[in-house]
Amino acid sequence: MGRAITYVILGGGVAAGYAALEFTKRGISHGELCIISEEPVVPYERPALSKGFLLPEAPSRLPSFHTCVGANEERLTPKWYKEHGIELVLGTRVKSADVRRKTLLTATGETISYKILIIATGARALQLEEFGVAGSDAENVCYLRDLADATRLVDVMKSCTGGNAVVIGGGYIGMECAASLVINKINVTMVFPEAHCMARLFTPKIASYYEDYYKSKGVKFIKGTALSSFDIDDSGKVTAVTLRDGNRLPADMVVVGIGIRPNTGLFEGQLTLEKGGIKVNGWMQSSNSSVYAVGDVAAFPVKLFGETRRLEHVDSARKSARHAVTAIMEPAKTSEFDYLPFFYSRVFTLSWQFYGDSVGEVVHYGDFSGSTFGAYWVSKGQLVGSFLEGGTKEEYEAIAKATKLKPDVEDLAELERQGLGFALAV
Ligand code: FDA
Ligand code: NAD
Repeated sequence: MGRAITYVILGGGVAAGYAALEFTKRGISHGELCIISEEPVVPYERPALSKGFLLPEAPSRLPSFHTCVGANEERLTPKWYKEHGIELVLGTRVKSADVRRKTLLTATGETISYKILIIATGARALQLEEFGVAGSDAENVCYLRDLADATRLVDVMKSCTGGNAVVIGGGYIGMECAASLVINKINVTMVFPEAHCMARLFTPKIASYYEDYYKSKGVKFIKGTALSSFDIDDSGKVTAVTLRDGNRLPADMVVVGIGIRPNTGLFEGQLTLEKGGIKVNGWMQSSNSSVYAVGDVAAFPVKLFGETRRLEHVDSARKSARHAVTAIMEPAKTSEFDYLPFFYSRVFTLSWQFYGDSVGEVVHYGDFSGSTFGAYWVSKGQLVGSFLEGGTKEEYEAIAKATKLKPDVEDLAELERQGLGFALAV
């Protein structure tokens, strides 16, 4: 069994949704585009899963957060795909790919051939077993990557009201889930190996603000250690968590957020990889000219830094996907991707944004005992990164603009004195 389709998007996550929208804007005919996804639903805004989806009151549910509502664009429902003649092969895993023959083989035994392939396979959550700890399949151990995980997490939370949760990992998933657990009236202890939360981005001073805020909500932190083993009862439930430092924590549920691995497996040995992802050029084109890669799985040149990076954030998934489609449909008019990295998070009533790169010397500014503060990163005499908590729309736009322009910074003390005013004046 086989069929031939001009454009195939492999993966049905954030990047796939934005790529589909861009294809229709650029003009494709019915039957020219197909999306193959392991997930049973059309693309949705994955960030909702650790935020609105987990709320006890009026939680977000599909179809409300299908792409592309996150960028204030049209919401692409199954009906929209049908109306645009986009073929959906959902709930179907691609189990092998042959880029020389330009074919994909699905788990249902179908061969789909393409002229152009866009790889948008995203990433999978790292499992505790990869760190030598057994128990991921216990009934009350939760991961969070897709809708099925989020649905399960909601069910487990509902059965644990008033109980104890242990959150393993102090990154994005750990921080956002810990906040949601508290809102669901569950006692939270966070455990992670670093000296402070969000170690990939936050400075100790920034981290301490958020940790204090979380402590004020009742969250406990156990830092500098990792999970050693679980106590699992006869019904297959974790009842306690033992840490490497010997601590033993009673647990009614566990949430694990210990990082991700990009889904490159189908293409290893066929395409050039870098930084754990599929290496692409400034047009999101891989080492095979018929194959593009976008989103979490792509390692692309960040012009601003003069370096190849793989980013794991929704803004880059949206924009890299749209850029790839533009490059495919209008190659002569498309210049190199010129992307300013943008990360954000919202927890409780807090909200921050970060632009650029967190390297070099750090200058903090603002009121760390209040609600608006931030930091700049300065490398080789230039502003390269900006963080702001509690800003207004105009202030966020100002730090984004300033970071993109990379202005010279001669005097760090003066930058600290000017604070947000520096970005507002650029
Ligand atoms: P994504 O993971 O969205 O999609 C990949 C798709 O490919 C999935 O549908 C998967 O099933 C499919 N697939 C993989 N292999 C396949 C195969 N072999 N066959 C068929 N289908 C296959 N970022 C941010 O900037 N701000 C935020 O607040 C958040 N919040 C957030 C919350 C949670 C819970 C998560 C898990 C992630 C975030 N992120 C985020 C990160 C952001 O969601 C992420 O960067 C994007 O979803 C990446 O989009 P992609 O399309 O690349 O992958
Ligand atoms: P992460 O990389 O943000 O954090 C991983 C954390 O795991 C580290 O901070 C560390 O504390 C911890 N860790 C690593 N090894 C460990 C071990 N053996 N034991 C205990 N802890 C360990 O990854 P994540 O939090 O799992 O997030 C997954 C993905 O989802 C990332 O790509 C992230 O960007 C994305 N995400 C982003 C947002 C956002 O941008 N607001 C929100 C949620 C998820």
